[in-house]
Amino acid sequence: MLFGILLVSSHLSSAGIANTKHNLGSTGIGGTSNFSGTAEVCVFCHTPHAANREAAVPLWNRNLTNSGAFATYDQTGTTTLDGGVEAIGSVSLACLSCHDGSQAMDSVINEPGSGLDVPAYSAGSWSGLVANTDGTIPVDVITNLGKDLTNDHPVGVQYAGGGYSNANPQGPGVDRDFKPPVTEINGTTRVWWVNTATEGGTSGYERTDMKLYTRVGTRGRWLGEPQPYVECASCHDPHVDENPTFLRVTPSGSTVCLACHTK
Ligand code: HEC
Ligand code: HEC
Ligand code: HEC
Ligand code: HEC
Repeated sequence: MLFGILLVSSHLSSAGIANTKHNLGSTGIGGTSNFSGTAEVCVFCHTPHAANREAAVPLWNRNLTNSGAFATYDQTGTTTLDGGVEAIGSVSLACLSCHDGSQAMDSVINEPGSGLDVPAYSAGSWSGLVANTDGTIPVDVITNLGKDLTNDHPVGVQYAGGGYSNANPQGPGVDRDFKPPVTEINGTTRVWWVNTATEGGTSGYERTDMKLYTRVGTRGRWLGEPQPYVECASCHDPHVDENPTFLRVTPSGSTVCLACHTK
């Protein structure tokens, strides 16, 4: 397992989150809270689909504690404090969804693999989901993503914040926290993909590489330029059976996520 992670991230200067106490999966470094049920890393905090829309952090895979449940520093009655203190919110609420001890660490909205971890309905629960008040399972989850994709991993999104284009095929990308894509001319179209080490190395495009899709930009920078975008099939190859949910590479160790993101 570790070998797999090293293959993917061998170009990085550090081993990344997999080697920290925030790897809560079975490959974790031996903290008190490792779970044997999955070797995924990101899943304890992020999900590509059905994320919690109320969280101020992207694609959050946990329910948040009610902000009002926290006592804040100013309530100590201190007379020397100058700054105003806001209710607990923003990224802090996300940290506290584990660090306030109110929920199990592995209590996530969307569990690894098919299907959701849908908790028994009670008023106000399923905060990120469109819940039915009669307690039935929400319609816009599981395999039916619905029309509202605000709680899904972005698609139709420029790779690396843009920067790769016909004019500048090698970039660099605007956002350097991404693995540089490989590019070549395919017929008359320039194409890009993110190489993974899963099959035979860097020689050419393979279906286990994360495929990017060439579109002409009509929004953002580089308007009018053919350039690489992340789409559904960047992560899913609808034909493969070697991985769950048609993923191009194994989600174990969050290989899928680390293929593009340098984390
Ligand atoms: C222990 C919880 C936790 C885990 C595990 C985790 N993240 Fe995050 N992630 C966060 C939080 C919290 C934020 C918001 C932080 C901020 O505002 O800078 C965040 C932000 C991000 C962002 C957006 C901001 C940025 O830095 O680009 C990306 C992309 C991201 N995470 C990807 C990943 C990937 C990929 C993995 C797995 C390899 C992962 N995260 C694992 C908690 C986590
Ligand atoms: C998915 C649950 C989860 C989330 C969300 C989370 N943590 Fe953690 N965090 C843990 C666990 C589990 C440990 C390890 C506890 C242990 O083994 O003692 C940990 C450890 C830590 C540590 C101690 C690291 C060390 O080396 O001892 C710090 C600091 C920390 N977390 C900060 C944060 C911050 C800041 C956020 C939000 C940006 C955050 N955590 C979000 C679960 C989480
Ligand atoms: C950035 C990568 C990525 C993109 C882009 C992406 N997905 Fe996914 N998708 C995943 C991963 C990873 C899983 C597995 C999640 C899990 O294990 O819960 C998944 C799971 C799914 C599932 C199964 C959900 C379940 O929990 O049973 C469906 C259906 C799906 N994706 C459809 C789509 C569609 C349609 C799009 C485009 C609108 C899309 N995906 C875009 C990464 C992605
Ligand atoms: C095919 C490449 C690719 C893969 C694979 C991929 N991502 Fe992303 N991801 C992107 C791009 C591109 C963006 C948009 C970044 C931007 O424009 O800021 C993004 C954005 C994000 C964001 C931040 C959204 C925001 O609001 O800032 C998070 C969180 C994230 N991805 C998590 C994940 C996780 C978790 C996985 C694995 C399940 C994953 N990604 C797999 C390319 C990818």
